[in-house]
Amino acid sequence: MKSLPKIELHLHLEGAAPPEFVRRVAAEKKVDLSRIFDDRGAYAYDGFVDFLRVYEAATSVLTTPEDYGRLTRTVLTELAEQGVIYAETFVSPDFCGGGDLGAWREYLHAMQEASAQAEAQDGIILKGIVTPIRQFGPERAKAPAVCAAETVGDWVVGLGMGGDENNGQPRDFRWAFDCAREAGLRLTNHAGEFRGPESVRESIEDLGVERIGHGVRAIEDPALVDYLAAAGIVLEVCPGSNVALGVYPDWASHPIARLRDAGVKVTISTDDPPFFHTTMSNEYERLAETFGWEVEDFAALNRVAAEAAFCDSDTRKALLTRLDKTDV
Ligand code: ADE
Ligand code: ZN
Repeated sequence: MKSLPKIELHLHLEGAAPPEFVRRVAAEKKVDLSRIFDDRGAYAYDGFVDFLRVYEAATSVLTTPEDYGRLTRTVLTELAEQGVIYAETFVSPDFCGGGDLGAWREYLHAMQEASAQAEAQDGIILKGIVTPIRQFGPERAKAPAVCAAETVGDWVVGLGMGGDENNGQPRDFRWAFDCAREAGLRLTNHAGEFRGPESVRESIEDLGVERIGHGVRAIEDPALVDYLAAAGIVLEVCPGSNVALGVYPDWASHPIARLRDAGVKVTISTDDPPFFHTTMSNEYERLAETFGWEVEDFAALNRVAAEAAFCDSDTRKALLTRLDKTDV
């Protein structure tokens, strides 16, 4: 599975930080973060809300553009190793300078430089999706949207809200999504992960998103499944994340195969791989074991992902050509 060329559309940059990386940065800054790790050095959390707290604590040691540059390089080296040829990463200006536009530009520069180096070395392409954090509330979502709107371009291609889906309604965040749309950004939203189908529906109707982060609980409403299929809404599905966070008790219960078979455009991602003890190859292997999917199934899903990527048309064409080769 490792050598299959892959596209990953749903990956949080901070959530992809290996625990060793976070421990090293914490040690350099003389910050004690031992409370967020278990005996074996892995991230330790109990359920989704605690996961968000540990995620934020780990991220709190990343305080400079240089830290984000190093993180970007570390993550891209691992992704290239996994056969990923193109990824989109969620990254939050709230963690990169507290929503200040000037600071965001410096962090962005560091991430872009790291991306350019990785592209030259490994041929991997990274684009960014600016991420308001839902539990910080609608007012605080405006600054990241402005940061995104002011820096839209070759690297910043989208806006996608993450965080606690149980905080408020999608429509509360309309200002941020309208601001981003008017600036030419593409839109996605985390929904249908910790809330049901209505959350997916409202994200589409009230925020106008064209992709949904997770979206898997749409399966609970057959009319919504039909709608997603007919409208070509793409789901950024992260099965290992859903199992690790208890959205589903095991892989066999996960609805990705049923959604795909109903004609919904599904794609495969890892979300926050070290938190969930997963990688892209692991996701593919577990899907193959659980649902009997073969190389052709994964190749087809990667073509769906290439079509749904928020990149420009030349990049898309190049990705589709690279996907036609079966090896990275
Ligand atoms: N931020 C990082 N991972 C997330 C997830 N699985 N759901 C919502 N917000 C997140
Ligand atoms: Zn996510």
